[in-house]
Amino acid sequence: MSDASADSDRLIHIMDETLANKIAAGEVVQRPASAAKELIENALDAGADDVTVVLKDAGSTLIQVVDNGCGMSPADAQACFKRHATSKIRSIEDLDRIRTLGFRGEALASIAAVAQVELKTKRVQDDAGFRIRIEGGTEVAAEPCATPDGTSVAVQNLFYNVPARRNFLKTPATEFKHLVETFQFLALAHPDVAFRLVHDDNEVFRLAASADDDPFAALRQRIKAIFGADHAKHLVPVEETTSYLSVEGFVSEPEFHRRSRGEQFLFVNDRYVKSRYLGHAVFGAYEDLLPDGAYPFYALFLRVDPSHIDVNVHPTKAEIKFDDERGVYGFVKAVVRKALGSHDLTPQFDESSSGGEITVTTPARGRTADLSPRSFTPRRYGEAGDREARGRARPAGPPSRSGTPPQHNRWARSLGSSTTAIRKTRTRSRRRCPARWPRRPWTRPSMRNRNSPRRCSGSCMTATF
Ligand SMILES: Nc1ncnc2c1ncn2[C@@H]1O[C@H](COP(=O)(O)OP(=O)(O)O)[C@@H](O)[C@H]1O
Ligand SMILES: [Mg+2]
Repeated sequence: MSDASADSDRLIHIMDETLANKIAAGEVVQRPASAAKELIENALDAGADDVTVVLKDAGSTLIQVVDNGCGMSPADAQACFKRHATSKIRSIEDLDRIRTLGFRGEALASIAAVAQVELKTKRVQDDAGFRIRIEGGTEVAAEPCATPDGTSVAVQNLFYNVPARRNFLKTPATEFKHLVETFQFLALAHPDVAFRLVHDDNEVFRLAASADDDPFAALRQRIKAIFGADHAKHLVPVEETTSYLSVEGFVSEPEFHRRSRGEQFLFVNDRYVKSRYLGHAVFGAYEDLLPDGAYPFYALFLRVDPSHIDVNVHPTKAEIKFDDERGVYGFVKAVVRKALGSHDLTPQFDESSSGGEITVTTPARGRTADLSPRSFTPRRYGEAGDREARGRARPAGPPSRSGTPPQHNRWARSLGSSTTAIRKTRTRSRRRCPARWPRRPWTRPSMRNRNSPRRCSGSCMTATF
């Protein structure tokens, strides 16, 4: 066969990298908020404890993230914009042990393909920093520069070369709402990191790093700083651990409900996930305690051995799959219900006050509401309100609507295990450099040692699982 005829027979061509990145960007970078998420996650993976996000025009003109993390060498600064360039995994086995927020090595390549990006970075051990500028995937400048330790990535004019995508952006108000939500969930998951959000020269949030070693106190402070004192006053702590799964965090008291699902934050191994399924589990735990059209606030952190989950089901990793979805559903519902019970908020049968009528009594607020017999749920487990009883007796598990404990759920059955001791030994410092602070195998190590101002030489950014 001649070359000419071979060419005419060939319909398939390999895309050049710039085009491939531009197309792939559609998966990773749907809007300014997704670019901001990737940049902030990179800062956190780099062990930063101070992250500033600067926005202009709801991110369409500028998204800049400045961190004080471990920085990059000049060689890495140039490599990081290549597709599949990552320091976080090396082999397929590492996928089962992912502890960083990123690992696909696609974000910077994707962002740089559809924007003008300037990265400045410096490691503590280097005398000078390095600056690199990429426009539409093409490097236009790379040179030494003066810059503080850490990394700054400025993304200008997102989608400037993909007009269809730019036109697809929603109103600035909507895009800004998504940006704020992204900032909020990342800030909630990292109370020990200081965050600042500046939009069009106005400071929207300034969140101090929590110095509290108690994760519950730190989270409460962060919730107060983000959402206000009212939220922080109406929180019910949730805390349970089994050998497979643990849940901790806060849900709101039923009285403090919201009109939308906008303030519901669920994390799996410190990664924010959207899960209608598990959201329903939390909602279901409230049963009839919420009026129609009301939703609880919550910030719940699930921790599970990474081998039991697949975070790779979605390009932005916003969705997650458990190997036993039903079991996790039952567990989440049970622990939230138990927590609400411990706060005297679950329905009770009150014969004296209503002549046998079924009521919901919330002693904390003295509120009583009639309930139909269908919604009657006797309080059976853990002697709600008696905190001493928690952890001592193994509760029978939460009652289902029929009043029988869900015996099919092995985690719900083991809810009695005490977790206080475990929690007390979990300190912020252990979250960091895995080499120095070994931690529960499934929790995400960050890459810094709090005791040293320059916490990480950068070696932690490599896949040393
Ligand atoms: N802010 C940062 N500080 C230090 N290193 C960074 C930073 N951002 C990116 N990097 C490096 O660039 C690599 C590529 O980043 P990215 O494209 O987001 O992929 P991933 O985070 O999935 O590895 C990272 O693995 C990391 O080594
Ligand atoms: Mg990343």
